[in-house]
Formats: sequence, C-alpha cells, structure tokens
Amino acid sequence: MSAPKLKIAVLLSGTGSNFEALYSAAALGRLDADIVLVGSNREEAKGLTKARALNIPTEIFDRSRFAEGEAFGAFMLKSLRQREVELIALAGYLRKIPPLVLKAYPRRIVNIHPALLPRHGGKGMYGLKVHQAVIECGDTETGVTIHYVDEAYDHGEIIAQKRIPVQPGDTPEILAQRVLEVEHQFYPEVLQQVVQSILSKKSVDF
Ligand code: GRF
Repeated sequence: MSAPKLKIAVLLSGTGSNFEALYSAAALGRLDADIVLVGSNREEAKGLTKARALNIPTEIFDRSRFAEGEAFGAFMLKSLRQREVELIALAGYLRKIPPLVLKAYPRRIVNIHPALLPRHGGKGMYGLKVHQAVIECGDTETGVTIHYVDEAYDHGEIIAQKRIPVQPGDTPEILAQRVLEVEHQFYPEVLQQVVQSILSKKSVDF
C-alpha cells in the first residue's frame, strides 16, 4: 500500500525554484504530498509556466480583479476547497493571504523566508533587498526561516531555522545564491515534518 499523502497548494509570484524543489521531493518520495494546485497573483510568473509543463492545475489570484477584498478571499477559498487542499505552501508569494483563507487554514499555511526572522522581514523585504540588508548591517550569519503564516508579513510562529555564514566579500547576489541552495533542501525537509504531523493526527481521527 502506498503511503498516505496530503494535498498541497503552492502559491508563488516569481521563478518558482522552491516549488520545483517541493515537486521533486514529492516525486522522489521524500515529501508525502501531492501538489494539486499552483496559484499566483502574477499571470507572467515563471513558476506558473513550470507548473503547467508538469500538468499541475494553476489559478490566478489577482486581488485587482475583485471590487471587494472579501469576494477575492471567497474566490481563493473556493479554488482551494475545490481541489481539497489541506496545506498551503508559500514559495515566493508576495501578497497577503486573505483573512477568510487564514481562518479556514489555521496552522495550515507555511512560508519560507531567506533570512533569520525576526531580522530582515516584513513588508518590502523580499528578493535581493533581504540580502542587501544583511550585508549592510554587518551580520556575520544569515539563514532560512520557515514559519506559519498569519495576517502580518513574515510574522507567524517559527517552525524551523537554518543558519548560514556570511563570508567577507559576499555580495547580495552571492549570498542570495547560497541561501537559495539551502532553501531547496530545507523547505522539503521541514514541510515533510509538517505533513507528517498532520497525517498522524488524521489517522487518529479516523
Ligand atoms: C525565496 O528566496 C523564498 O525564500 C522567498 O522568495 C524566494 C522565492 O524564490 N520567499 P523562488 O521563486 O522559489 O525561486
């Protein structure tokens, strides 16, 4: 009998290399999950093209297409529920999650941030800006944080962190690359722990 799996949605705004890492981990049996939906606020996100090439259903979650925030939240929730999504993994998603969805998925939405939160997080702290800030502050270490998502940017309860040294002479670009390589290992590993804990509770429920 094959291992039980959790249905996951991945939300992204850009390249989607973390989505690819999660997909590969699932394909290799290291993540007990099926990625049943890839969502983005940006039609032109490269990650969406990658998802389509893998025959994964995609959806555009564009707030500007809705007059009311609540209608937008209801649309996102309906799309997630249609695919029976049980866990949402943010992978470079640059928008807030609507309150309706946060409420429907308590401790079921996870984000990855390329620094050691609470340092270098919050609104506008994404991409190279994060690594620039680390270098400008003279930090000798940075890292990766995986946390639950709440109503504030990069704020929810921390699940796991991995430390990474900053080397003399590092540029934001060099540091970004070093951190991203760690993310690709660490996100599937930590998400697997989250998945396992949800699956074990499920088996008790039945
Ligand atoms: C990653 O650095 C992640 O930590 C942050 O956004 C970036 C996404 O990169 N939240 P990619 O689109 O997965 O390549």
